[in-house]
Amino acid sequence: MTNVTVNDVTLLAMKAARVAGEIIRSGISRPFDIDMKGRRDLVTSIDRESEALIIGMIRQRYPGDRIVAEETAPVAPGEGTGESTGRAWIIDPLDGTNNYAHGYPFFCVAIAIEEGGELVAGVAYDPLRDELFVAERGRGARLNGEPIHVSDTASLSDSIVATGFPYDRTEGSENNLANLNRFILSVRGIRRGGSAVLDLVYVACGRLDGFWEMNLNIWDVAAGGIIVREAGGIVTNFSGERWDYSTGDIVASNGLIHAQMTNLVGAGGQP
Ligand code: IPD
Ligand code: CA
Ligand code: CA
Repeated sequence: MTNVTVNDVTLLAMKAARVAGEIIRSGISRPFDIDMKGRRDLVTSIDRESEALIIGMIRQRYPGDRIVAEETAPVAPGEGTGESTGRAWIIDPLDGTNNYAHGYPFFCVAIAIEEGGELVAGVAYDPLRDELFVAERGRGARLNGEPIHVSDTASLSDSIVATGFPYDRTEGSENNLANLNRFILSVRGIRRGGSAVLDLVYVACGRLDGFWEMNLNIWDVAAGGIIVREAGGIVTNFSGERWDYSTGDIVASNGLIHAQMTNLVGAGGQP
């Protein structure tokens, strides 16, 4: 593995992700509680244990930083718990909880760091594959220490892309099905992995060529989004404009197929 220097804040995020990942990995083989947050939206006691551990590690070292965390502090970065140091930690303690609860091996932990209103680092850790994805702004993206880059697939018809569907798809009017219909006719393959964070980092390392989803939360996209950008990819909203990671709609790609993707999503063009 290449020896890479990262700053202390990123290093703490990497350590916390690994320790939380161990809780998640070892949790598979012991009984855990499952509660319903919505009709399809689960939370397990492992999500909560992971989140408590990550927050504890951050609080110990940086007690004044803001925390935005899915299970206990699900608010916008400017409003998270903690005082104002200008830094916020955006935490998804277990991305892919439905997969986890069903024993489907595709989930991870994600931590992003925001400073002065900008994302400066992202970390995602897949505990089953022991894969640690890390990016710092302006310093590229790495998988287990080795530089990663998006794919060079130039056409949507040769692409494998991923997406997901909102938990409230039967209650809300936006269910992503119109987009799915358009994409399925235009791509080589579509995957619905069930972890938006892993979908994003898979774009970053070229395993996927693109990803789109709607109604996501900031903790689903912040870490993966900066990792895609630092791996040479493009991340925007559905209109192809500036990505605001606090809003839910995202298109991420290798850049080469980006315009073709934004033509198909949202208000959407024709295939
Ligand atoms: C979910 C996953 C899933 C996406 C959902 C997310 P969670 O996160 O990322 O792929 O489709 O919209 O909420 O609830 O497992 O942390
Ligand atoms: Ca999530
Ligand atoms: Ca989660």
